[in-house]
Amino acid sequence: MSTPLRLAIVDPDDSTRESLKNTLMHLESVWLEADCSRYEFFLDVVEQSHPDIGLISLDGNADRAVELVEMLNSRVPSCGLIVTSRSSDGQLILRALRAGAKEFVSAPISPTDLVSALDRIGRSQASTPGAPKKRTSQVISVCGASGGVGSTSIAVNLSTVLAAQEEQSVALLDLDLALGDTDVFLDMIPEHTIIDLVQGATQLDLTLIKKSMAKHQSGVYLLPRPIHLDEIPMVDTSRLGQILTLMRASYSYVLMDLSKSYTALDLEAMHLSDQILLVTQLDLPSLRNVVRILTSLRDLKLESKVRIIVNRVGLDSGQISLKRAKETLGQEIFWQIPNDYGVMVQVRNNGVPLLQQAPKSAITTSFRGLADRLSGKAAEAPADRNAKKTWLSFLSKN
Ligand SMILES: Nc1ncnc2c1ncn2[C@@H]1O[C@H](COP(=O)(O)OP(=O)(O)OP(=O)(O)O)[C@@H](O)[C@H]1O
Ligand SMILES: [Mg+2]
Repeated sequence: MSTPLRLAIVDPDDSTRESLKNTLMHLESVWLEADCSRYEFFLDVVEQSHPDIGLISLDGNADRAVELVEMLNSRVPSCGLIVTSRSSDGQLILRALRAGAKEFVSAPISPTDLVSALDRIGRSQASTPGAPKKRTSQVISVCGASGGVGSTSIAVNLSTVLAAQEEQSVALLDLDLALGDTDVFLDMIPEHTIIDLVQGATQLDLTLIKKSMAKHQSGVYLLPRPIHLDEIPMVDTSRLGQILTLMRASYSYVLMDLSKSYTALDLEAMHLSDQILLVTQLDLPSLRNVVRILTSLRDLKLESKVRIIVNRVGLDSGQISLKRAKETLGQEIFWQIPNDYGVMVQVRNNGVPLLQQAPKSAITTSFRGLADRLSGKAAEAPADRNAKKTWLSFLSKN
């Protein structure tokens, strides 16, 4: 199980230290282990509390702060160091970085900048052999090879299954800006939409993000698409990066239901994702689109993030076989979801997730397996294993 990054801070200025503590309080991915107002005590603090990150303000006394960075770097190399200053003096920043700081963040610290710096350090520490596993967030885009292939069903039900896992907090963003219907799938009429986060000069912070998300009883936090079509142009791609950076700090999973238009916003979402679920069915037009989409995503250097999900397996005897689909795509099928028309109609009509409507059904079990595979709990490719065991008869017919 992952744990938050532990931080210790030193800043002789009481007011900036308090405002930093306030920012940190809203970040669920970090834990403030210690705060200190004197440079001379900070080495002891770090040696005793063993934080993952030390955050040092340079503004109290730049020379002493840089000396402290140097000393911490040699005495406690496991502690990643971030320095912060109101000054943009390149020489000072360079000195601090040469002394061993990993990141510089301008003061007053914006949550977005801090989270990005923490994320970069967290990731580099996590890749160190033997390092304990820290909390990292997964951003997952769900896109589809044709209209109606089941992307929203997958984004919504995967979110609720992930949210049911212990200690997982899940955000779901509806980026199908014109026709998105995640709110209908969850039977919610949220007060806010993505527009609340992208309007004019709105200063983004975690408080605003959390206020804009509607909590579903499954535990999923939903950010729906705009209400009015004329609001769509307000959703600027550059804002998405800031929103996701802050969300990464607060949620273990952020899922995005993309449109089928492959707009600039959809592509930006894919660039910012760790995994892209490309949903298809076993019909010729969808599979042909998968090939086209994969070619484009390869050009955009996104191919390695793509996981192909075949939905509605077993729908009818005219479907193309999994074997042929795999050969045509030249790529592993990451997961298969069985067809279950009866259950999915109820889910849709009642506005309740599968986990609530049919917790024991095969399709819900399949979603649990997909969640495990995405979170790394199931390493094997169960698509093939399931195919052999559960859908042997189906395969033999094709
Ligand atoms: N595995 C499944 N078995 C049976 N029906 C399914 C399955 N998955 C999805 N459906 C049904 O297919 C229909 C389309 O699903 P959904 O809205 O999730 O697709 P979509 O790709 O998001 O569509 P759009 O292109 O409109 O965004 C819905 O009625 C849904 O209930
Ligand atoms: Mg949809």
